[in-house]
Amino acid sequence: MINWHDDLPKIKPKYLAITKLIKSLIQEEKLLPGQRLPSERKLAQLFDVDRSTVSRALLELTSAGLLIKKSGSGTYISQLPQIHSLPTRVNWNLFLENNKTNYSLYQNKITQTRALDNGMILDAAGNELPMELIPNLGLLQMNWQNFLLAQKQAQDAGYLPLIQTIGHIHEQKKQLKLTEQTLLITGGAQQSLLLILRSLLRVGDSVAFAQPSYFNSSAIFKTIGVRTFPIPLTDMKMDLNVLEDVILKHRIKLLILNPTFQNPTGDIISLEQRQKILKLCQEYQIAIIEDDVFGWLVDSKDEVQTFKSLAPENVIYISSLSKLLGSSTRIGWIVAPEAIGKRLLQVQKKLDIVPSMLAQVMANLALTDETFNTEINKLTKELSIRRKNVTKILHELKPDWNFKTPKGGFYLWIKQNDPDIFEKLLKKNILVKPGPIYGTTKKDFRFNFANFDIERQQKLRAALTKDK
Ligand SMILES: Cc1ncc(COP(=O)(O)O)c(C=O)c1O
Repeated sequence: MINWHDDLPKIKPKYLAITKLIKSLIQEEKLLPGQRLPSERKLAQLFDVDRSTVSRALLELTSAGLLIKKSGSGTYISQLPQIHSLPTRVNWNLFLENNKTNYSLYQNKITQTRALDNGMILDAAGNELPMELIPNLGLLQMNWQNFLLAQKQAQDAGYLPLIQTIGHIHEQKKQLKLTEQTLLITGGAQQSLLLILRSLLRVGDSVAFAQPSYFNSSAIFKTIGVRTFPIPLTDMKMDLNVLEDVILKHRIKLLILNPTFQNPTGDIISLEQRQKILKLCQEYQIAIIEDDVFGWLVDSKDEVQTFKSLAPENVIYISSLSKLLGSSTRIGWIVAPEAIGKRLLQVQKKLDIVPSMLAQVMANLALTDETFNTEINKLTKELSIRRKNVTKILHELKPDWNFKTPKGGFYLWIKQNDPDIFEKLLKKNILVKPGPIYGTTKKDFRFNFANFDIERQQKLRAALTKDK
């Protein structure tokens, strides 16, 4: 039962209070698509305002697409696009359709170029660390007998010592509080996302993520029939007006963010922005998925509180070893409120996507190796040297390329004016990832500097000097 008068927010002007109330009633599904609103006259009585105030509020909501006026019959809540029933098997066509997107042409070109490379290509298109930078953890002692014994410590959420090691690292770094939370091991961050979406959403549900974003080209959303809505992210500020609008129009269920060393911008969302985003999401009860795969690489002085530590009950946290120990480790994890954790574990078991024990035991040996911390320090130092040298070369030789130097991670997000930049750089044997992969234009591109040791830095300088 809607209590129109008492639920009206205590804000002025009154027509705004009315729009806000109707928006939240739609969001909370107390007003359903196709439902008829009381007449303007009736609403004016219920709210104890002039009829013109109600008219103005309804006009705003109609032009925002939330209401529909039918002449002679009244005002109705807009219909959402038809939602079909849950498919029982994977729709392979959707995977195949992916190949027709404009970004897949670039992906194919990048794969082809690498396949034909005879050592000439300066590869700045990689998603991860080059092999030579992956921490060298030496000899990890494991014999088969120990491995068999380790299986006794297998729990539903994964290999217990690994869960404890990861939990301990997070608590030490103060990224997470693990009380009343479930930490479960998965086969990487992508798999975590798939598991979360599959467990919590239904076909036709909507999620939002930043634009530009790595998630733009992820096949996961189409595979499970989830609708996606990009929210502009400019200088690491999310357009909160667009976010609110999209939340209301499309009944967004989840907001997916990669706030630290974001892929592709390499930048960090500030604490102030995080709090603003959280506040809005809390207001509309939108859950946040925080993808923190680069969290390992953040220097303590630059560390910003994770969304998860700011609002443990509203955020599902995911991370993995891919950006540190290589993506072939296929080890990731999720930290979720207990009730959600239980659901995720059930679905994980049902879908039989429980990660290999062998990989989990190895990952635990790697993370507890005595050289682990020294190796990470060595890695972050080397990355910062490479970042400094590469940005120096680019500033010197490409003054018209605009980019912000990030504090860590391995990406530069470069904006310039030439829409053919991908092809032109490729002619110089420089391979980058163009903007359309991340949902922006051909004038933007992502440059992974991690691959640029001294020799490649010199080659990069030589290749770009030819332009001058
Ligand atoms: C932001 C982000 N999330 C998730 C992934 C995938 O991680 P994983 O290899 O653990 O599935 C990537 C890989 O590039 C990424 O950049």
